[in-house]
Amino acid sequence: MDSRHVITIEGIGTVKTPHPTQEVIAKVHGSQCGFCTPGIVMSLYALTKDKMNPTQEEVDEAFDGNLCRCTGYRPILEGAMKSASDGDHHECEVGCAPAECAEKRSTGTCTAEKGSDIEDIVKRSKVSEDSVPFPSDLLERHTARQTAVAYSFRCDRAAWYHPTTVDQLLSILDLYPDAKLVHGSTEVSIEMKFKNAVYPVLVSVADIPALKSITETDDGVHFGGSVTLTTLQHTLESLCSRREPHQTRGLAALLDNLRFFAGNQIRNVACLAGNIVTASPTSDINPVLMAMNAILRVQSSENGIRQIPVREFFLGYRRTALRSSEVILSVYVPFSCPNQYVKAYKQSKRKDDDITIVNAGLNVGLEFASGQGWVVKEASFAFGGMGPTTMRFVTKSCTFWQSIVVDLRRYSSAKLTAEACVGKTWSKEMMENAAKQLVIDLPLTLSSPGGMIQYRRVLALSLFQKFILYVSHQLAKLTPGVPSVVEREVSGIENIPRPLSHGVQEYENEKGAVVGETTTHLSALKQCTGEAVYIDDMAPLQGELFGGLVLSSQAHAEIKSVDYSAALKLDGVKAYISANDIPGWTPDEHHNRNVVGPVFRDEEIFATKKVYHVGQMIGLIVAESASLATRAAKLVRVTYEPIQPLIVSIEDAIAAKSFFEFSRTIKTGAYKTTDGPKDERVVPLSAATHTVEGVARMSAQEHFYLETNCSLAVPSKEDDEMLVYASTQNPTETQHFVAHTLGIPSNRVVCKVKRMGGGFGGKESRSVLLSLAVAIAAKKLGRPVRCMLTREEDMAMTGQRHPFRGEYKVGFTDEGKFVFMELDLYSNGGFSMDLSHSVLERALCHADNCYHFPNVKMRARICKTNIPSNTAFRGFGGPQGMMVAEQIIHHVAAYLKKPAEEIMRLNFYECDQPTHFGQPMENVYLDRLFADTLRTSDFERRKAEVAEYNARHKYRKRGIAVLPTKFGLSFTARWLNQAGALVHVYTDGSVLITHGGTEMGQGLHTKMVQIAAHTLGVPISKVHLSETSTDKVPNTSATAASVSSDMNGMAILDACTQIRERLKPYADSHPKVSWEDLVEIAYKDRVNLSANGFYKTPDLGFDWSTGTGRMYNYFTYGAAVSEVEIDTLTGDHVVRRADIVMDIGKSLNPAIDVGQIEGAFTQGMGWCTIEEPLVSPTTGFLFTRGPGAYKIPGFRDIPTDLRVRFMKGATNPRAIHSSKAVGEPPLFLGASVFFAIKHAIDAARAENCQSGYFRMDSPATAERIRNACGGPLVEIAHVPNEMGKPWAVVA
Ligand SMILES: Cc1cc2nc3c(=O)[nH]c(=O)nc-3n(C[C@H](O)[C@H](O)[C@H](O)COP(=O)(O)OP(=O)(O)OC[C@H]3O[C@@H](n4cnc5c(N)ncnc54)[C@H](O)[C@@H]3O)c2cc1C
Ligand code: FES
Repeated sequence: MDSRHVITIEGIGTVKTPHPTQEVIAKVHGSQCGFCTPGIVMSLYALTKDKMNPTQEEVDEAFDGNLCRCTGYRPILEGAMKSASDGDHHECEVGCAPAECAEKRSTGTCTAEKGSDIEDIVKRSKVSEDSVPFPSDLLERHTARQTAVAYSFRCDRAAWYHPTTVDQLLSILDLYPDAKLVHGSTEVSIEMKFKNAVYPVLVSVADIPALKSITETDDGVHFGGSVTLTTLQHTLESLCSRREPHQTRGLAALLDNLRFFAGNQIRNVACLAGNIVTASPTSDINPVLMAMNAILRVQSSENGIRQIPVREFFLGYRRTALRSSEVILSVYVPFSCPNQYVKAYKQSKRKDDDITIVNAGLNVGLEFASGQGWVVKEASFAFGGMGPTTMRFVTKSCTFWQSIVVDLRRYSSAKLTAEACVGKTWSKEMMENAAKQLVIDLPLTLSSPGGMIQYRRVLALSLFQKFILYVSHQLAKLTPGVPSVVEREVSGIENIPRPLSHGVQEYENEKGAVVGETTTHLSALKQCTGEAVYIDDMAPLQGELFGGLVLSSQAHAEIKSVDYSAALKLDGVKAYISANDIPGWTPDEHHNRNVVGPVFRDEEIFATKKVYHVGQMIGLIVAESASLATRAAKLVRVTYEPIQPLIVSIEDAIAAKSFFEFSRTIKTGAYKTTDGPKDERVVPLSAATHTVEGVARMSAQEHFYLETNCSLAVPSKEDDEMLVYASTQNPTETQHFVAHTLGIPSNRVVCKVKRMGGGFGGKESRSVLLSLAVAIAAKKLGRPVRCMLTREEDMAMTGQRHPFRGEYKVGFTDEGKFVFMELDLYSNGGFSMDLSHSVLERALCHADNCYHFPNVKMRARICKTNIPSNTAFRGFGGPQGMMVAEQIIHHVAAYLKKPAEEIMRLNFYECDQPTHFGQPMENVYLDRLFADTLRTSDFERRKAEVAEYNARHKYRKRGIAVLPTKFGLSFTARWLNQAGALVHVYTDGSVLITHGGTEMGQGLHTKMVQIAAHTLGVPISKVHLSETSTDKVPNTSATAASVSSDMNGMAILDACTQIRERLKPYADSHPKVSWEDLVEIAYKDRVNLSANGFYKTPDLGFDWSTGTGRMYNYFTYGAAVSEVEIDTLTGDHVVRRADIVMDIGKSLNPAIDVGQIEGAFTQGMGWCTIEEPLVSPTTGFLFTRGPGAYKIPGFRDIPTDLRVRFMKGATNPRAIHSSKAVGEPPLFLGASVFFAIKHAIDAARAENCQSGYFRMDSPATAERIRNACGGPLVEIAHVPNEMGKPWAVVA
């Protein structure tokens, strides 16, 4: 921090005086829950501060280190693009694509109101660059000093040295040979935080000018070890633009990999030497340096200066040739020569900010010899991700097309490869033969760390193939007579281009109507200025303490002992809390207060005798600071006795018959009447002339709300009262369980929720456990206790979307009309029931999606496994059920060789047709919606274009798919379909409303304020909503099932209508008075200006035992068309375009609803593509913890062209103001990307002479895409199953 000026979001503007950057993001609806918003605003601020006129490309890149789980990114990008110098600025805030905008304005169909002030805001941002000037005293100090100052300091646990010359640095290292050098600390901090590394002496190398210098010579460039990656990137860009192209091929390759290296924030601080010394097997820099024969200059006092070629630097897993006390001074990278070709490749799960799966630096130098052709003078191939360290393969001087000699140096088996290649004439066959030997040489087994063995092997070969294509193409351009790469194969050379993203939104905006208006999220500006308060932002209360969790490290074990004595010895640690601290608790009490669960009480708050998953809560350390509590919790020693069996996946559970007792069965048509009287209307099973059988398998999904679970419990000295602030979707359940556990009545507990930084279902039930832990601690110690989970803790403890497996058999006619479906559905519930039963029911009720199956036999069971309890997640089982139906559609279509859309249309529900749970379909617009989607997306024409493109390209294929959805609205538990509201009108005319729902970014409170304002006939500014609190509205249902607007809106409407009616006589007798005067008159006449509203959804009540009654209030429908392009060599994909059409009735707030649709689509797309939680089959450990290992879609994963339309003319008589719920229904439309990918894979398989249906599990990761594409390289890389247990599995 020395001499640095730190600018935070609070520093650039406030709600009253916002900075234009803050205002833009708020205005374009770029903030929903707001937890990511400060980071996003500051990335944009930093960009505009650095560059007055950034290009669109630069804006696009500015967010590569930011994530948002709510918005789907499109509005943020479009808002930010307004700052771009080359952006096409429109005058409206809808932000259509230029052509669309022009067309709409010319045809008068533009829905935006002219006069948006976004352009003005952006203009202001251009002149406000000095809004936060660099502090003058710091500037003066800096100017006076010119050079950095050396200093040091120490605390009780570490000493910090800050030398400014190499001599000082070496002297410090002489004194402390084990000192840890630090630059950006992007690696060192991870070692300290996650690997418990302790470094008593830290030495900064960030301010030593000699280590930051960059020197160009005639042959190459010396980069100082402390050059940051951003500086490196800029320097390489400059070199590539200034130098001869042939000289910079190696540097350009380095630049290519740097573009996809981490995000801006990391590249700005991380240094070159830091990456090299870390010696990560997946380093993105080392393979290129190795391939380029780069040389390191290192120095120590003892050994002086020595040079180490990078290829000799890596000795093993994270072991290098650097000796004690040696530092890297610089890295020399030679220029490339005229006939030298260098390429770098990187493939990861996500394009931006992700760790490599496999990367490569490939370099070949050639010479033309007449009669011989091109002869290789030198060649060097390095791969990352293929072994314990970056691995180099060196060819000896040879004729390139005649032999490829691979010298693996440390891996003697490489001899085989060499022998296979030497003296052979170049040909496709020879390459394949060489590749065969290459994979034999690669030391990966099925259980190698990182998993994906087959994919990594095939990827190494594929990257190699890309390079061969590239070099061949270059040589053919140079040399007449050398055969060129055929045109179809050129597509294998470059990565899929990804243009800048843009979007179109089309809806009817009811101007001046309050309800139906595009009102901005009421907290948006607070979120953009950092003024919005989340629990961890609350100032510490007097005497407040902090919790640090003690979690199980075993998946299934008996707890033998817990020793927390070392933790309690630390100064400031107050207590170790366990089940024994529950007031008056004994394990044998009748209603065990340590045992909770939303419906089935089957899990302990603190594990007492046994643990059932890694990450289960055993105890809580309470200390004076959060960091101390975390440190102390790590000192608690728990000993275990492992218990068998260890069951992780659905398949394990089926084999072991490990199920919860709960199950569901649905039988209709012929299955139902088999034993009963003959029903003439039943379609006989024999009507099916064909059958197919298959498996639809889906993995879990992590919620990844940006705000992890956080709770603060505040005990009162009086009457046993307890106040709990929680980041929860379920304040009532929090209140009830705190009361139950502490043994006090519910009227002594209040739970308050101001806002959440995202929930998505993950805080419906699992958040309660943390609140209970802090409440128990607060009760025992009589002091407030707060705890916020780390990302890793949250992911390890709180469960995910349920993985599902559907085993189906479907009968159908020659045309493809469904006759029957038999389905065995299994979900992975984890170790306890939680909400798994309700999730299972919804999955079962959505396994038809939009299609009528006349005869249905479905059985559904929940697997009991040793993983955290899986829980609610947006869609609540619905998407998993619908995925089964869509896999069936595509299976049948492939079998009949018909387009999937034809099978869909043929089987769509018609009005009044009953679902398999007996609910007649009402107001069905499926046909119209589907036709509308196909028409507006130009589906048929684009499908033909896709086929044409695929015929012309061998290694890149496109795919297009349409997908409909139908989502049932209501809680399936009847009693939850009720809501309350409280509305007060004060004598100054201001209105305070409260209701039972919580705000997690979905804009619920904004819609509720709109409804209240509309009903009372006042402007929105008169209405305030402060928070959700159980002492204002009691006995509320969780904010879930997408029905919170429907139900709470009705309750608000009820309360406001009561007040309106009480005011009516006064309004009639004083027709001209203002609202304020009307209120005053009524008050003086002693009118009650407060009302309690209530709503219960009518007619509901499905009875599972008889299969009768109404399950859902209504359905929300939608359809989407997605188009993708895949790289068949790497498995990479880009979503080229997505068109979404939703029937959401009459929108209460189109801007918020568009945000919900785009956010849900992106989340659904993530579920079906890049998000794949992976668990160890041998330990039950979740590998994919934290943002490093688990990838949600980033800014550059969204469709490059995203179009959202609301279906016109749709109404809904069964919900408030004719609206429809929108939170969950669009999520499944993200699966259209999955089926578009599958369509593209079909084309790739056809290239390899494979046709017909193939099973592909969801998600369509790069690994699955590449493996499914098939081809000779996949066969060569094939890993037989008998090679061992895999490193990781999908649970
Ligand atoms: C979110 C995130 C994303 C990442 N993404 C990528 C990625 O895409 N690709 C990739 O390859 N890596 C990635 N990394 C890894 C990391 O960023 C790099 O390894 C980085 O270059 C380390 O630089 P640093 O300055 O932060 O090193 P530090 O953490 O400060 O130090 C790392 C090591 O280098 C040593 N060291 C530093 N300077 C010298 C020197 N002059 N002489 C001798 N030893 C020295 C230190 O002692 C330490 O052992 C990522 C890390 C994070 C946290
Ligand atoms: S608004 Fe971005 S994470 Fe919620």
